[in-house]
Amino acid sequence: MAHYGDFQNEIYFAALSGTLSRFPIRYEELEALGQEAMPADLVSYVAGGCGNERTQDANITAFDRWGIVPRMFVGAAQRDISIELFGMRLPTPLFMSPIGVIGLCAKDGHGDIATAKAAAQTGVPMIASTLSADPLEEVAKHFGSTPGFFQLYTPTDRELAQSLVRRAEAAGFKAIVVTLDTWVTGWRPRDLKSGSFPQLRGLCLANYFSDDRFRSMLAQSPADNLLAATLQWTRIFGNPLTWDDLPWLRSLTKLPLLVKGICHPEDVRRAIAGGVDGIYCSNHGGRQANGGIAAIDMLPAVIDAAANTPVLFDSGIRTGVDVIKALAMGAAAVGVGRPYAYGLALGGVDGIVHVLRCLLAEADLFMAVDGFRTRAELRPELLQRVER
Ligand code: FNR
Repeated sequence: MAHYGDFQNEIYFAALSGTLSRFPIRYEELEALGQEAMPADLVSYVAGGCGNERTQDANITAFDRWGIVPRMFVGAAQRDISIELFGMRLPTPLFMSPIGVIGLCAKDGHGDIATAKAAAQTGVPMIASTLSADPLEEVAKHFGSTPGFFQLYTPTDRELAQSLVRRAEAAGFKAIVVTLDTWVTGWRPRDLKSGSFPQLRGLCLANYFSDDRFRSMLAQSPADNLLAATLQWTRIFGNPLTWDDLPWLRSLTKLPLLVKGICHPEDVRRAIAGGVDGIYCSNHGGRQANGGIAAIDMLPAVIDAAANTPVLFDSGIRTGVDVIKALAMGAAAVGVGRPYAYGLALGGVDGIVHVLRCLLAEADLFMAVDGFRTRAELRPELLQRVER
């Protein structure tokens, strides 16, 4: 049986004949080189976070305060980290979190499509953002046999929301993820300094500009008057949803419905009572609010409140062992954000595939060494708080 950890043999054997990995192995190097490959205003958008960025830093350092106790005499020669999610068998527990400017992270400006191609190659699902450079129908064409999920930024116009969801269903997306924490942009000093907000230049709005309902709100087509179309987008983008809107959101689709940005146990219980199929615990990688608590530290209470409802997690995943820790806490699947954006900037589809393979190899080899054969054997009891 092939294992994700076999990737290290590939790397060592290639080195014997003089070929070293084209792409970095350590995250820190990936981040530095990925940023060098991007224009400065894109770096500030991708790397930057909210306020003084303590929360986005904490998202990462908080993983150091959780440790895992190894088990021996397990003989974990065969390992399986596949998962079951909404009736789908997925080969890995990873997914690619929605990134609104991923289109711009590719040299050719079609990063959403590159990400979909990487999903097809790896079996790691992409959650496609509403804010994409190519329309969702074009992105979905490249998923191969890997399922794709659609992330909805709920516009104030309900017909437009319905239209986007209908289009995602028709294009074959397998779940709808509604992001709750971004009806308004958080205070982001790096972007404010550079005055850079890509959508205000009409970028990554392809899903709106290709939508009949959105176009019906315009006097001229976006091609003829980009400024007017962009201004119209600013008017309808953010809907400050309340619990009263949940029945309507639920009524939009029969696909699995997930809500992203949920971190409080009471919100978990209410969302599940309102009929959602999955909770997505995330603080948006610290980009939206600088509240100070690392997402991973909120996960245990979220899992507890969610009981049997699957909980997806992201924010701060940088290594394969981070993935294992989130799984051990009880996450059903684990999302990666910025790392794959840097992989894309550095090496297109190959760069993303490399980043995912590194995470999976490290996770798999950790399981081999520390004695875990299946995802089910990764249990919360194995986690210990570590003082540093
Ligand atoms: C995001 N994120 C995001 N989330 C979402 O629901 N819709 C979106 O369009 C975006 N756009 C976006 C752009 C950029 C540049 C980043 C970095 C992030 C948040 C994303 O889905 C995820 O929650 C975080 O990226 C996870 O944190 P890490 O892995 O980046 O630390």
